[in-house]
Amino acid sequence: MFSEIISKILHLKKQKNAIILAHNYMRPEIFEVADAVGDSFELSKSAQEMKGDIIVFAGVHFMAESAKLLNPSKKVLLPSLAAGCFMADTITAEGLLRLKKKYPNAPVVVYMNTSAEVKALSTATCTSSNALKIVESFAEDTIIFAPDKHLCEFVQDRTHKKLIPWAGFCHVHTQLSPAFLQKTKEKYPGAHVLLHPESPKRLFPFAEHICGTGGMSQYIQNHPEVDTFLIGTEEGMVGRLKRDFPEKTFVALMGTCINMKQITLDNIFRSLSQEKYEITIRDEIFVPAQKSLEEMMKRS
Ligand code: 13P
Ligand code: SF4
Repeated sequence: MFSEIISKILHLKKQKNAIILAHNYMRPEIFEVADAVGDSFELSKSAQEMKGDIIVFAGVHFMAESAKLLNPSKKVLLPSLAAGCFMADTITAEGLLRLKKKYPNAPVVVYMNTSAEVKALSTATCTSSNALKIVESFAEDTIIFAPDKHLCEFVQDRTHKKLIPWAGFCHVHTQLSPAFLQKTKEKYPGAHVLLHPESPKRLFPFAEHICGTGGMSQYIQNHPEVDTFLIGTEEGMVGRLKRDFPEKTFVALMGTCINMKQITLDNIFRSLSQEKYEITIRDEIFVPAQKSLEEMMKRS
């Protein structure tokens, strides 16, 4: 069904010396054209190390911006400008500045799911896979942690540092109720529940493991005795896991991120052929935002 557009993209990719990085939540057909598939941190590393001239980011805006900041000499393209992030929009630079004024001596750790403007006001960035490590890498005892209040709570329960939260959240990860999760667990006896730390704490008692999307793949790899997994993150992750573990059963517990689903094979092709939409970052924020991401790379 997609073979024609896939071969056109593969041809153009070669011709333009481009690579395609795809987040785990992408539509499964996009994995066929990707040079790397992974979570936010894995893709940041791929972006930093990639050879070639162009990066097409099959993900959302903050991920493409981070790729540009980590590898500024490359042309970074996002196939759709509608691919934003609800969580990233829960915090602005002005809001973070106000919080920083209240805690002038606290380092600021921001989640990767933020704009470059917000990253520019932070000390270090983190992702779901390294948030605890980044927080613990600071000598200070009080740390601002923004914007995800649930990830903040997850880290807070595992550290002696005092975290100052922001009230952000992701609507995809906060809709699952404990009652529904309990019922689904009963329907699949023996299944393991994997939850993303963007989920509310009230769901954690039902989970065998809480981790980012890359951690979910690792957990499944490490538990060959388990046949069925209930996947507590954006439903696209199930497509990714089915591809890697075809003999296992996966059940999606959460809904769709419409931002991630803006990316299609058609707009990837258009993006590559017309070289749009190019990610640019204002000079005044480029260096501080880059420093925040580089701090993450150093500390993780
Ligand atoms: P991961 O880094 O765990 O893939 O998370 C990214 C994200 O946006 C989760 O909603
Ligand atoms: Fe943002 Fe939530 Fe979509 Fe992840 S799932 S990109 S946090 S809106």
